[in-house]
Amino acid sequence: FDFEYTVACLGAGYVGGPTMAMVALKCPEVKVIVADINEKQISAWNSDKLPMYVFYEPGLEEVVKACRGRNLFFTADCDKAVIEADMIFVSVNTPTKKYGAGAGKAADLKNWELAARHISRVANGDKIVVEKSTLPVRTAHSMSRVLHANDRKLHFEVLSNPEFLAEGTAMKDLAKPDRVLIGGNNKEKAGKNAIDRLVWIYEHWVPKERILTTNLWSSELSKLVANAFLAQRVSSINSISALCEQTGADIDEVAKSIGMDQRIGNRFLQASVGFGGSCFQKDILNLVYICESIGLKEVAEYWQQVVSMNDWQKCRFAQRMVKSMFNTVADKRIAMLGFAFKKDTGDTRETAAVYVAKHLLDERAKIAIYDPRVSEAQIKMDFDYYEALPKDEKFSSRIDICKDAYGACKGSHAICVMTEWDEFKDLNYQKIYDSMAKPAFIFDGRYDFVLVVGFFYCLNLVFFLDRNILNLEGLKKIGFEVYGIGKPMPESLKMDET
Ligand code: UDX
Repeated sequence: FDFEYTVACLGAGYVGGPTMAMVALKCPEVKVIVADINEKQISAWNSDKLPMYVFYEPGLEEVVKACRGRNLFFTADCDKAVIEADMIFVSVNTPTKKYGAGAGKAADLKNWELAARHISRVANGDKIVVEKSTLPVRTAHSMSRVLHANDRKLHFEVLSNPEFLAEGTAMKDLAKPDRVLIGGNNKEKAGKNAIDRLVWIYEHWVPKERILTTNLWSSELSKLVANAFLAQRVSSINSISALCEQTGADIDEVAKSIGMDQRIGNRFLQASVGFGGSCFQKDILNLVYICESIGLKEVAEYWQQVVSMNDWQKCRFAQRMVKSMFNTVADKRIAMLGFAFKKDTGDTRETAAVYVAKHLLDERAKIAIYDPRVSEAQIKMDFDYYEALPKDEKFSSRIDICKDAYGACKGSHAICVMTEWDEFKDLNYQKIYDSMAKPAFIFDGRYDFVLVVGFFYCLNLVFFLDRNILNLEGLKKIGFEVYGIGKPMPESLKMDET
């Protein structure tokens, strides 16, 4: 088959894989090659059944199956991909730097620079290079210099095309994006042509008015700012959740009341144990670092507070558990329902669960974890990475990984809900209660969850009552001591305040 155009993507991860699968689906005349140096990752993409612990993304498998071998190819041969492609997306990870200047804040651009050097070395003609990874503003400038640091007289036009998809809804977000952002050197002909080429790809399925073209720096910065604003909303509502618990106000009612103001809007106002994921914290810290580097101290401090509030929320949640359980959790079994940073993903990066676990382990608790999508090996890796286990403690002596929620809850003193998995809504809480030590506590770090349990009780009792009151009443009726983020604190728990 003669393809009209060829695009490649270096990096077959959470962003590169699904994005390229969508391009392949919507642009049958475009050949799409996804390349990665990690052969294991590539063979996973090429396997009959995508290993769900790597890519649990609703709808992804269907799209990959429809396109793979037709116009979508996964390969570990990065040289060939670069040579064949007219346009190369770079979607390698840019984690927070762990060493040297900017450690703990700046983005580590090592992988990006390596990819740029690779393209520059093996390219056989002019290429359009597209930044898909989230990068600090003005990275395109450095990348252009790296790409052109050869004497081969090739031209590389750099574009910025940040990805706004969220995990768990990636395919939906890709199919119907709020907007597609394309930044390029729109003052010069080569830049304009490159922008037009990328616009042409997206126009296959995205309405023209949703495709936004800007200069390079606006595009790079917008990605960081979008994540910073979203995270800021979560931190803002979380800060108010603490106030609600102490004053008798209800976060559900407050969020609804303010969200009905169209200027505020109702999305991203769900209080939680804290935001996680690979982007929010990393991107804000990156923004903070950039501001500090150019002397904007006040701006840096402003955004730093969004991350500090999130840290405080995770810590506050864990402390609440300890306080409520008579100020000691030593040797108590605590069931942790959910470990992923949100539902419908197996991703655990920056998950609040590991921070809460660390706090509880410092208090000598034993933790029984159940998550429908996160493997034991992954949880072990996370405990190592985040140094969550107290020194000299063995994973197996403190952590019990369970096959289902009932197993995790059995014999436990408390349940903490860390991820809002749908299956937790349908559990038989009477059965769970009966199997637990008494008093039995539930600490809900996920606002969704409590609401729906409440709703089920509403059905059971046939009475129409206010959902929130009923939810607490429903679980209480069974006998649980219930704590919900941002819900008025029950007197029995307040009494344990120190
Ligand atoms: C985010 C952005 O949404 C996406 O545009 C960007 O491309 C990558 O980062 P993602 O990390 O996949 O996506 O998840 P998202 O759904 O945004 O949630 C992030 C975290 O915030 C999760 O831990 C989630 O539970 C939490 N959250 C979200 C809340 O606590 N309350 C909310 O109201 C919304």
